[in-house]
Amino acid sequence: MTGDGLFDIARSAEVVNARIDDSVSPRLADVMRVVTRHAHAAIKEAAITQDEWMAAIGFLTQTGHMSNDWRQEFVLLSDVLGISMLVDGLNHQRPAGATENTVLGPFHVANAPRRQLGDSISADNKGEPTLVIGRVTDTAGRPIAGATLDVWQANDDGFYDVQQPDAQPKWNLRGVFETDAEGRYWFTSVKPRFYPIPDDGPVGTLLRALGRHPFRPAHLHFIVGAPGYDEAVTHIFVPDCPYLHQDPVFGVKPSLIADFQHTVDKAEQGQYGFSGPFWKVEWNFILDGARP
Ligand SMILES: [Fe+2]
Repeated sequence: MTGDGLFDIARSAEVVNARIDDSVSPRLADVMRVVTRHAHAAIKEAAITQDEWMAAIGFLTQTGHMSNDWRQEFVLLSDVLGISMLVDGLNHQRPAGATENTVLGPFHVANAPRRQLGDSISADNKGEPTLVIGRVTDTAGRPIAGATLDVWQANDDGFYDVQQPDAQPKWNLRGVFETDAEGRYWFTSVKPRFYPIPDDGPVGTLLRALGRHPFRPAHLHFIVGAPGYDEAVTHIFVPDCPYLHQDPVFGVKPSLIADFQHTVDKAEQGQYGFSGPFWKVEWNFILDGARP
């Protein structure tokens, strides 16, 4: 221990960090030293008052109370502060051309039903019919057979099935597909719409206080993986969504904005089981084999 161990405003972070015992995990010690140093610097720079600090503690307490097995308010807080995207980006830097990651979000459900290529993931057929089609390849363009695509999206009203267990069929707009021998996949769905992140808790209150809206631009979620490849946790974004450049969780990357083509071709309608015009999204996922 350095110094006399007594608190001192000028050296406040140093005094606290000096208490960390030499026997503890070096990584924990390093991280806590950095966090303490920056937290003390922030309190000093913003000249936080006693009332403001108690309000901050009250906010964090409410954030904890709002959280349960289905609602993770701390993840939401991390998302709206851009921290989820920062951690994800720092830890998933891939070679040029490989599909980029973005936030997982709170609505993924493990073990969704396995479906056949060409199946629909929409159990209620509400919304504009959409075909999603493409290939999964490696960074050299070689097809990956047997790659899995776990897809999930919100319905036409902007809700996931787990948010409306009484209004939507179970597993609505979810499914797991496997690529064929040429790495191809295709399935049908409905065009995603923008939706608000859950804003009835303290994070919603914070967004309103900051003059920010809660609407995530329309997207489909994917987890795409294959043995020996770095799994991509990613989205496909709808290009004409009014919120594309205002995502409250900062998940949009230019490389993830797709092209939704309105298709009136009768032969294609019949080929994919549509009874009228549909939206067609051609999208290839490119996996990095360097870091399984
Ligand atoms: Fe989402």
